Amino acid sequence: MFVSDSLNVNEKGHLTIGGVDSVDLAKKYGTPLYILDEDGIRANCKAYVKSIEDNYGGNGLVLYASKAFSCMEMCRICDDEKMGLDVVSGGELYTAHRAEFPMDRVYFHGNNKTQDELSMAVEFGVGAVIVDNLTELESLAKIAEDAGKVVNIMFRIKPGIDAHTHNFIRTGQIDSKFGFALETGEAMDAVKEAVKLSSVNLVGVHCHIGSQIFDIDPFVLAAEVMCKFIADVKAETGLEIEKLNLGGGFGIKYLESDEPVPYGDYMTKVADAIKAACNDLGIKLPAILIEPGRSIIGSEGITVYTVGAVKNIPNIRTYVSVDGGMCDNPRYILYQSQYEMLCANKANEEKTETVTVAGKCCESGDLLGENVKIQKVEPGDNLAVLSTGAYNYSMASNYNRIPKPCSVMVSGGKDRVIIKRETYSDLTRNDI
Ligand code: LLP
Repeated sequence: MFVSDSLNVNEKGHLTIGGVDSVDLAKKYGTPLYILDEDGIRANCKAYVKSIEDNYGGNGLVLYASKAFSCMEMCRICDDEKMGLDVVSGGELYTAHRAEFPMDRVYFHGNNKTQDELSMAVEFGVGAVIVDNLTELESLAKIAEDAGKVVNIMFRIKPGIDAHTHNFIRTGQIDSKFGFALETGEAMDAVKEAVKLSSVNLVGVHCHIGSQIFDIDPFVLAAEVMCKFIADVKAETGLEIEKLNLGGGFGIKYLESDEPVPYGDYMTKVADAIKAACNDLGIKLPAILIEPGRSIIGSEGITVYTVGAVKNIPNIRTYVSVDGGMCDNPRYILYQSQYEMLCANKANEEKTETVTVAGKCCESGDLLGENVKIQKVEPGDNLAVLSTGAYNYSMASNYNRIPKPCSVMVSGGKDRVIIKRETYSDLTRNDI
């Protein structure tokens, strides 16, 4: 019935998440409110970890891509689930460090890490820095050398596969701001530079082919291309690459019509392809790293708003305005992303209306969706937007000086705040 198994409807006709009444939570904590189902998140973590155990003898690590939703509690959950973390900024790295996440399981990404961020990574002793370009390689080697340390690195490679939600293309794809191109020889040149440097230790190669992908084939193809590169590196430099990081990008169900692939199927096919390729190429099996973000947390979160004005413009459309908008979910305005929505306090009623859901920001484009099917709503009702666990809070802003909502986690029928609602005084904290 719903896009996520975390969701249901109780005897009052209210939407529940993880068995907890979302309307009660809205009353208790106010709106807009992000609600996340911890049990669902943990089940996803376990499914990924198990898929590497079942298909690859456990020779790998699942890194949660914390850009999807980063906070200290999420770091603690990932640690508990024996996962690693993908961080992409000093802020995400700092969050993991403050949460006492084991730094050797943190992998640091980014196409333009600053000197300060690189120093922080060296000081904290991260598992590896995913080096994006030669400028970074040079800076990092110098910082590590000055600190008297040797830092593990991986190279971000452009494998020449560009995947989108429902299709993928094989292109030169040299035109991306991320990483080293294979076909120009740039990637091999970088490897040859790295092996000369005593303060860096090249342990792996990385690629990431896109996000919200439903098809397994582009992942298989990327794995094959990367194995070939590992073999070429061995042939040209004698170096045996130990780790293959295949990035994230696995699609989730936003709409009823979306049909994501089970993670197990993905890992079976990718592991088989890697084993076959390594066998053909005569190289040893690398450890596999994967970096799911959206598929760990996306479907396990909802946002609950309170409906304010409902404006019917005859023969044009009905605007249902809510007390949040692009400031807590910029994905419609950025990507025209579609979501399932419903009236949380009338969840059993039929969806008879087709409306435009508008936010409260001073911007005409501030919408959460157009042509959205929902129940008939009136001011004071709670509107729930589903599958908002990923890239909502993490992309939220303070536009119009609107404080960021509270994030509540539910588990085993109980609820707790994991990120407090911002206050007005938080907004002026740094003003002079
Ligand atoms: N690893 C790397 C290197 C990435 O660049 C990304 C996402 C991931 C892992 C995680 O991908 P996921 O499993 O979450 O698809 N703001 C956009 C999504 C941007 C994704 C960027 N990179 C959105 O709201 O759809």
